Amino acid sequence: MWSEHHLLGMHNADADEARALLTLAHEDAFGRDALAGRTVANLFFEDSTRTRVSFTIAAQQLGAQVVDLSSKGSSVSKGETLIDTAWTIESMGVDALVVRAGQSGACELISEHVDVPVINAGDGMHQHPTQALTDALNIGRAHGREDAWDFSGLHVVIVGDVVSSRVARSNVGLLTALGARVTLCGPAMMCPGGLSALGCAVSHDLDALVDDADVMMMLRIQFERGGGARLASQRLYHACYGMTLERADRLKDGAIVMHPGPMNRGVEIAGAVADGHRSVIRDQVAGGVLVRKAAIKLALDRG
Ligand code: CP
Repeated sequence: MWSEHHLLGMHNADADEARALLTLAHEDAFGRDALAGRTVANLFFEDSTRTRVSFTIAAQQLGAQVVDLSSKGSSVSKGETLIDTAWTIESMGVDALVVRAGQSGACELISEHVDVPVINAGDGMHQHPTQALTDALNIGRAHGREDAWDFSGLHVVIVGDVVSSRVARSNVGLLTALGARVTLCGPAMMCPGGLSALGCAVSHDLDALVDDADVMMMLRIQFERGGGARLASQRLYHACYGMTLERADRLKDGAIVMHPGPMNRGVEIAGAVADGHRSVIRDQVAGGVLVRKAAIKLALDRG
């Protein structure tokens, strides 16, 4: 999971490392001065609400200072490369870089050019490791697996614009490493059969999966990455692949509905389901702070 002191992806997730981090997050193990005197830089070259704010809150709760940089308002808008920008911020004496970028692979590239830890906060259609850890934290808590984080016997169904989704890729890597069975589901243009190479099943029939799922993870159509470009109608998509109230009523006892956000209510999920008793979406947001505290602390300890 870790690449030296960098947290870049979950494609080769290590179950022991993930379980150690999840335990620290679950126990909220670190105090308010754990990172006193340290500085964490948020380099967000793509928009974010949850990830950016939760990394900021996490670092502040550990006693670290936070500096924030985005493309707009920085010299990236004048043509400076991401690597030069990262070098520049590193040279000012920061202790870790939290990086979000629109380009798949950008975080790994930056990690090869700096000495401080790099934490991937989402890169293009590639990886979003702390979102997957956040989702695992909530799955473990909801299904009573927080002692060992062993997800054997759990069936996680990830639904929607999977091919565009870094969240899906990171979750497949992490959740299968923890023992879960994962099925990706969506229309063929958003969920091609080749995604089974990730080590999971692929289906185009959501209704065939609803009765068996322990976790339904709904994904947004990523229109900004070309997702849904050939979609005939959002209403038809909702009818075929949305988490409707009717489908939520068919879920088995204890099954949960997740969404990494941002949500498009009425497209991939009905508003009443997002706000209903099966939804753990707000818990996911809260858990994100705990996971990011553990990720920042472990990255700096490894550095
Ligand atoms: N889940 C997620 O990454 O949300 P943001 O884009 O708001 O950070």
